[in-house]
Amino acid sequence: MPTRKVPPPSKVLDRVLVMEMVRVTEAAAIAASSLIGRGDEKAADAAAVEAMRRAFDTLYMDGTVVIGEGERDEAPMLYIGEKVGGAPGKGPKIDIALDPLEGTTITAKAGPNALAVLAAAEEGCLLNAPDVYMQKIAVGPGYCQGIISLEKSVAENVAAVAAEKGVDPSEINVCVLDRPRHAELIAELREIGCGIHLIPDGDVAGVIATTDEDTTIDLYMGSGGAPEGVLAAAALRCVGGQFNGKLLFRNDDERERAYKWGITDLDRIYTLDDLAKGDCIFAATGVTDGSLLGGVKRLRGGRMTTESVVMRASTGTVRWVKAEHRVK
Ligand code: FBP
Repeated sequence: MPTRKVPPPSKVLDRVLVMEMVRVTEAAAIAASSLIGRGDEKAADAAAVEAMRRAFDTLYMDGTVVIGEGERDEAPMLYIGEKVGGAPGKGPKIDIALDPLEGTTITAKAGPNALAVLAAAEEGCLLNAPDVYMQKIAVGPGYCQGIISLEKSVAENVAAVAAEKGVDPSEINVCVLDRPRHAELIAELREIGCGIHLIPDGDVAGVIATTDEDTTIDLYMGSGGAPEGVLAAAALRCVGGQFNGKLLFRNDDERERAYKWGITDLDRIYTLDDLAKGDCIFAATGVTDGSLLGGVKRLRGGRMTTESVVMRASTGTVRWVKAEHRVK
């Protein structure tokens, strides 16, 4: 039988705060949306960062960014360690992983699946992942615990999922980031006959797509950003599904960064609970249209619509929020 571990509700993450997190991702998405298709990745990212930073300050919390825009000397705002929230020293202590614009290139090119995302949890519950690559494999809910593993080969993982789904391995659909580094993985999947959904960017949405049967995507495989891995893991903690991640290091500088964040076992395979434990919240708003959410629509008369989702691990509640905003 499939299992879903339900953590006890956190006293720190109160219900009001869960809903409030949507305001934060909405603000970032709206800000980035003015730059969709304008060919300027940096400007789109900066707009989202600034708006998200401001929105956090309206929330009653004592927040700390644990996954953000980079280290203090690299990022002017929402850097790792930055305090956010309107009640420093007084409000609940919350760790935040964020990506104000997941899919900067997508936004610049008006492609699909750009999101404003964040995850929030009690202090110490989210992995402080260094900004390196992570080998990832994910499957949606409804499968036996341990069905996928980075210790198994590509063919073994596909065969296991196919067997439990009751289909031939060639009927399994796998989402993969379209990168030259995935040539071998793609060749192996082609050999099996799998359907491969190649995405140009945005692997948070790619991982979450495995949880929605309408996407027809069964598995996510390949390497992408480690911070995005933590964000995707937080979402899977809320809706169910399984994930394995392994940090990949290209040089000593990247290894040093891992040690700096307290990671000593560089070969460790992380499961969902290692990346996001206890009660946690995941919130996202679509910037451009995608498989998870519609993007920001700018309408006549200064109106805008947004589509967001907010989920909580302890209850498993998933709320879809469609909002209409009047922009001054
Ligand atoms: P950005 O929003 O920072 O551009 O990240 C987009 C993204 O596609 C992530 O979703 C993914 O994890 C990562 O980039 C992959 O990195 P790379 O582009 O170096 O392959």
